[in-house]
This record gives sequence, C-alpha cells and structure tokens, in this order.
Amino acid sequence: PAASSLQQESDSTTYSDVDERVDVDWDNLGFGLMPTDYMYTMKCAKEGNFEHGLLTRYQNIELSPFAGVINYGQGLLEGTKAYRKENGNLLLFRPDQNAIRMKIGAERLCMPCPSVDQFVDALKQTVIANERWVPPPGKGSLYIRPLLMGSGPVLGLAPAPEYTFLVYAAPVGNYFKSGIAPLDLYVEEEYHRATSGGTGFVKAISNYAQGLKASGRAKSRGFSDVLYLDSVEKKYLEEVTCSNIFIVKGDVISTPATNGTILPGITRKSIIDIARHNGYKVEERVISIDELMNADEVFCTGTAVVVAPVGSVTYQTNRIEFRTGLQALSHQMYSTLLGIQTGVIEDVKGWTVEI
Ligand code: COI
Repeated sequence: PAASSLQQESDSTTYSDVDERVDVDWDNLGFGLMPTDYMYTMKCAKEGNFEHGLLTRYQNIELSPFAGVINYGQGLLEGTKAYRKENGNLLLFRPDQNAIRMKIGAERLCMPCPSVDQFVDALKQTVIANERWVPPPGKGSLYIRPLLMGSGPVLGLAPAPEYTFLVYAAPVGNYFKSGIAPLDLYVEEEYHRATSGGTGFVKAISNYAQGLKASGRAKSRGFSDVLYLDSVEKKYLEEVTCSNIFIVKGDVISTPATNGTILPGITRKSIIDIARHNGYKVEERVISIDELMNADEVFCTGTAVVVAPVGSVTYQTNRIEFRTGLQALSHQMYSTLLGIQTGVIEDVKGWTVEI
C-alpha cells in the first residue's frame, strides 16, 4: 500500500523502512504476544468528539495512576481479524459490527465513542501499516484489538475526563493450545460470567478478569475451558469464557438468546445467518444444560476461536461426548465462514471489506 495513504507521525520512521518480510514462523502461530510495527490512537475529552487519530510506532502507553480504566475498569475491548487473500489483498470481516458493539458498550459504561466510520478507518489504517504482519493465506490472520478506555484521571467514582481509543494488532493462529482439536468443556457451577443488569452483553474489560479463576481451575484439571450457566436458576446455558455456544439436535441448531447476559458475538450472528441460508432451522432461546447433554453436537463461536467443535462436556460427574470431525455440522460452518473471511467463498452478503 502507498505510504501516502497512511496518516503518520511526521517524525516516525517512514513506511518504506519496514516494508520487508518479517521473521515469523508462520507455521507455528498461536495466540500469543507478537507486537507489530504500528498502532493507532485517538483521544477525546468527556464532552467532546474523537478527532485527530494518529498512527504511531507501536509503543507502551502512558497513563496517570488515577486513570479511570485502571482504577474503576472503565474500558471496552473489541476483536476482529484481517486475512490475506490468495491475490495478496487484505480482507476485514464486518468491522462495522464491532464499531456498533463498541458504541453500545460505550453507552453502558458512560464513555464517548468513535463513529462507525472513524472506527473502521482506524482499523484499515492499522492493518495497512502492519501489512507485513498479516500471515500468508492459510497460515492465520492479523488479530486486531481496538480498545476504548477512560484514560483521564479521577479519584471519586465518576466517568473519566478523557478517553482514548487505541488499535493494535498481532498475527495469530489457533486460539487454543490444542489447535483445532475438539474442546473438552467443564460446566462451571460456582462462578457465573454475568448477571442480569450487569455488563455481560457488552465487551467490558471487566467481564474477562473475573473468569480467570474458573478457567484456570478447569484448565489445571485438563479441560479446555468452562461453560457458564445462568446465575439465577443455575441450569441454563450462557456462554464459554470468550465464545458463544451452539447445540445441534437433528437438523435444528440452537443457541442461547441474547437476553442481556450474553455477548452478541459477530461470529455468532454470522453463523446463524450462514446456517439459515443453508436451510437449517436456527433457534435463539433458553437452553437447559440437560438439553445440551442430549444434543448430537456442540460447538463454540467467536472471533478468536472462529468455530470450535466441542468433543465433550462434563457436568457434575457426567461426561458426554459429541459428534466432531468432517461429518459434523460445525465443520461445515467453520469452512463456510472461514471461506468467506479469506475470500475463497463468494461473499454474497457483503460482509468483507477489501483493503
Ligand atoms: C475474541 O476476540 O474472540 C475475544 O473474545 C477476545 C478473547 C481473546 C478474550
């Protein structure tokens, strides 16, 4: 891409001096820390508008110890991916949906938010600037992490006086260490991911730290992750730590309805559309853990996990195995979604944005 298309810091290194191959083992990408060359930052005062967004070299950020985000958790994260097509062009997947979700989250956490156009433009600029870090076709993607945070100082609990929108990126492969192997989930009964009236329906940063304990405990016992139940009846499916859950029985696919405690995943929504387009009946409703234990198939969806088959679910002392492999519906959904995201399957819905 032309350097002129980038809005860069005037004193930063020119784009041409990083326009070379990177030393990455593309065959062994996990979901790890791999900082890239550039990041994007845009700021806004409490009553103001976001403006003057800027690409800079990737660097640590400076925050007041009083910053709202580190004291009171006034922060949101997003996640999306850029894939490299066979012809070398780069594809974003439904970035407007991340922008809209961030706006809903910002409203919930009393933060101003970039417009959809500003958000999408920032993502494009970040990807173009970090183009050499986008893996070759078939090797993974560039994971893009937009953040919105109360960066200004406060002491009494109140919305911060200044906000920072930041976008950084890292090349990634499979999310789970086990690669694309089916997941072994443990049904968590002590802890809950979200409660009615809380922030489960937005991508608040605080939704994630609170899940570390349950996930860590399950992982130390050999499970891939936990499946959360609702906090009232303790018997209805919510979601897995950072993915939505689907069950398949016969030719009906079901997933918990987004009722305020469930994150409205963009992959979730896309899979619902793809499945319906392919003639499946898809229900968004309340699903009990007993119903899941009688399903033919279970799978998870998310930006990071894409579509991950679940090989087993352990609920109390009961471990049930589910259909996985090439015959599984989750495999068909995975291939179709990834095909659209990578430009291999025609994007009839206009979901991808080529840059
Ligand atoms: C996602 O991007 O899919 C996420 O939910 C973020 C995750 C890695 C914690």
